[in-house]
Amino acid sequence: MKVKNIQTSVIIIFMAFLFLCACEKQQPDATDQIYVGVASYNQSDTFISQMVSCLKEELEELENDGFSVSVTIRDAAGSQRTQDDQVEELIDAGCNVLCVNLVDRSNPSEIIDMARENNVPVIFFNREPVAGDMMQWDRLYYVGANAWQSGMIQGQLAAEAIKENPRIDRNKDGKIQYVILEGEPGHQDAIIRTENAVDTLKNYGIQLEKLSCGIANWNRAQAQNRMSQMISQFQHNIELVLANNDDMALGAIDAYQKSNFTESALPVFFGIDGTDVGLAAVADGTLSATVYNDKEGQAKAMAELAAALVSGKGLDKIEFKKEKYIYLPYTRVTADNVGEYMGDVK
Ligand code: BGC
Ligand code: CA
Repeated sequence: MKVKNIQTSVIIIFMAFLFLCACEKQQPDATDQIYVGVASYNQSDTFISQMVSCLKEELEELENDGFSVSVTIRDAAGSQRTQDDQVEELIDAGCNVLCVNLVDRSNPSEIIDMARENNVPVIFFNREPVAGDMMQWDRLYYVGANAWQSGMIQGQLAAEAIKENPRIDRNKDGKIQYVILEGEPGHQDAIIRTENAVDTLKNYGIQLEKLSCGIANWNRAQAQNRMSQMISQFQHNIELVLANNDDMALGAIDAYQKSNFTESALPVFFGIDGTDVGLAAVADGTLSATVYNDKEGQAKAMAELAAALVSGKGLDKIEFKKEKYIYLPYTRVTADNVGEYMGDVK
């Protein structure tokens, strides 16, 4: 009798084991299908449009790792309302992971609620939600870069150029007269970049005189306008232009080109991003230097994270800051190394 009982238990345990194995086997199959919804704040933004193409490429590369991948991209064209609707549609269409570049980084609640109700994890990128919102759910992540680091590197590049080239101080008063072109107010990369660039210049012992600061919302045409106003106000007195991104630095250069200044009367310009147009300007010498915002690295990190979240495999191998943040480092780009960043090299 006892022997029979033992036999029955063994059979039951064995069958349960087989059943469990079968379930486990089925699960990865179902989750090897990655349906990614990408929501961008504005595809007319130079950096973002390049970043989103990188992301698409990196996600498609996951096919080489045995995943089946489908990517749907939506552009909110600057409206949070539109983005909320687009995210709802992406979830309804069956996306099992979302990559969201918020329009209004202080207002992600609607997206978080929808994602949580449908258990679709969200990777925010480039426009960082505030810490309190990131805590709303444990399947929220952020991939980006540290704004202070880009400001610091921009300040170092400018300080080095000023030390190497005394002609930058054109009026020879021992101070550098400078203006700032700033990105969108409220964006984590605007104020922090400015503060760190200026502080770093001061730490390098550069005497500064601030002439003006204009908001140009990351945009080349707006920067050209703001710069034209500054040129009419300060004439030949501007010696240094610090821009929070390459597009605004290029807008400032456009303004000078329109004003027909001679080369010796031009200030020096510094950007951040290393977009294609930014790198080309470093290569031809119109932009003194820029700071590389590693879109390829960020895109790769997002693709890996998306795959881990959907498949449930490999999440433990990803290194997070505070369990949900991934920051890629910024690097310096000057005429000396710009070639490494151009073309297919990066
Ligand atoms: C980039 C800008 C871009 C902005 C958009 C920043 O990190 O440097 O070029 O316009 O992100 O959110
Ligand atoms: Ca001066």
